[in-house]
Amino acid sequence: MNQLALFGGKPVRVKPFPAWPAFDEREERYALEVVRSGCWWRYTMGEAVDAGAASPGEPSKVAEFQRLFARAHGARYGIACASGTAALEVALRALGVGSGDEVIVPPYTFVATATAPLLIGATPVFCDIDLETFNMSPARFEEAITPRTRAVIPVHFAGLAAHMDVILTIAKRHGVAVLEDAAHAHGGTWMGKGLGSLGAAGVFSFQASKNMTAGEGGLITTNDEDLAEICESLIWGGRHAGQPWYSHYRLGWNYRLTEFQGAILLAQLERLTEQTARRRTNAAYLTSRLRDIPGIRILETPDYATGHSHHLFVLRFEPKAFGLTREQFLEALQAEGIPASSGYAHSLFRNPMFLDPALRVDMERYKALCPNSERACGEAVWLEHRLLLGDQEDMEDIVRAVEKVHEARQEFAAAANVRA
Ligand SMILES: Cc1ncc(COP(=O)(O)O)c(C=O)c1O
Repeated sequence: MNQLALFGGKPVRVKPFPAWPAFDEREERYALEVVRSGCWWRYTMGEAVDAGAASPGEPSKVAEFQRLFARAHGARYGIACASGTAALEVALRALGVGSGDEVIVPPYTFVATATAPLLIGATPVFCDIDLETFNMSPARFEEAITPRTRAVIPVHFAGLAAHMDVILTIAKRHGVAVLEDAAHAHGGTWMGKGLGSLGAAGVFSFQASKNMTAGEGGLITTNDEDLAEICESLIWGGRHAGQPWYSHYRLGWNYRLTEFQGAILLAQLERLTEQTARRRTNAAYLTSRLRDIPGIRILETPDYATGHSHHLFVLRFEPKAFGLTREQFLEALQAEGIPASSGYAHSLFRNPMFLDPALRVDMERYKALCPNSERACGEAVWLEHRLLLGDQEDMEDIVRAVEKVHEARQEFAAAANVRA
């Protein structure tokens, strides 16, 4: 038998997968333009400019980027800001969420989805996910609604659209604002419509690991002109476009994006369609090749999720069926040269910060209310999107490595016993 690399055998793969971030002379050229212009920050605060307009209305890379990004996602307005976390805070505040309000969020996501409500005085209320998609369960969302619920944040986890028609219908019935967390979902669609354009607003992240990046950065999408203007104002310290510079009309932040980031993101956006198509082709191939291996379950892509952006390729690992624990599987796979990980270590409500009663999150209650999120944390195996930017031979290496570990599962189990 082909010996596992973990025990001294030859690894399936020694070649690195495509590096991230991907860039070329465009990033260099646009960034250099900014350096040479001497205009390193977006010094004009624009009126909300419709994404369909021919020009950004001001000479700024950020202004140009936010218009083109919104347009690419089918939203009328894009408001660039410092991070995805900032985008969540600003959008929630602009939607009127504040002290005493509840915001329903899934527990299987990055911490910012839940801390953004807290940072503006509201309380996150966790509702469970569906195991087939790892996205918010619409039924659990409806059960979590109380008279204090002001907003819900469905996350398009891994780039897969949440069950938006049902979520939007329930939210409308209860007068709850829908804020899409599209931090994983650049270029993704639901029923052919851009993610981030479906709810009252959407948020994106351009942090280093995301499908488009400037190291850091964020953006809010919306079709509502008034909301766009409030978001813009909040990001500019409460200023109003066209009003005196030192007049501040609301409590705001400085969450502006720099022109350097705008330049890099303009270049990254030019590559998004091609990269998303490549990720989809490779994800479809991987799915077809991995799905029959015992113990490997690929998350489902329901019909409404017409365009997956594959920020992550996610498996559910079933130890009994495969014959190894998830940790053994990951250790062996990594040794074969496949950088897979176990993803979120625990449901968000288990974070130590929630031991503080001031944060109003009852950890014990949510452990019982969110069994699917708890299971997802124990079963998930994630592959990063950059792996999907390789070619079919790269995908074959992933398949060969998983098959090799599966074939050697007994050898592994015996060796692990000896080591223990
Ligand atoms: C689902 C989700 N929401 C929000 C964020 C926050 O984005 P940022 O890191 O840009 O603040 C992230 C980033 O990791 C995320 O994964």
